[in-house]
Amino acid sequence: MFFVTVTFGLYPGNAWANGDPSKGRASFAVCSTCHGRKAEGMESLNAPNLTGLQDWYMLTQLKNFKNGIRGNDPKDIYGQQMRQMAMTLTDEQAMRDVIAYIKTLRP
Ligand code: HEC
Repeated sequence: MFFVTVTFGLYPGNAWANGDPSKGRASFAVCSTCHGRKAEGMESLNAPNLTGLQDWYMLTQLKNFKNGIRGNDPKDIYGQQMRQMAMTLTDEQAMRDVIAYIKTLRP
């Protein structure tokens, strides 16, 4: 009970209960090479800060990348890079897990 209280108290984003941050943590290792260890973003790689984003927004974007709605234009070099990464997330649960982990990081 103490753990639950503390978790929800510190990170209200975790109220989105469909992802498992402990599983998402492993997937985030690859994301961190571009987005930074705390998802703070990396200007030199054009990788945006993810910490302030809504969970539902990130889920939509990851699906868009994976489905080729985003990042599919050969001229869109950065979008294409991110698309490759979205492909590594095998299914929606994997996306929800990694998003749940991102939501534990402080903006
Ligand atoms: C090779 C570098 C790289 C890696 C690794 C990477 N990304 Fe990205 N990501 C980017 C870039 C660059 C963009 C911006 C794409 C654009 O301009 O459309 C982006 C965009 C995003 C966005 C959309 C942000 C927005 O504001 O719309 C999300 C969400 C995201 N990344 C999540 C992830 C996750 C989760 C992972 C790990 C599975 C990951 N990224 C791994 C480079 C990367």
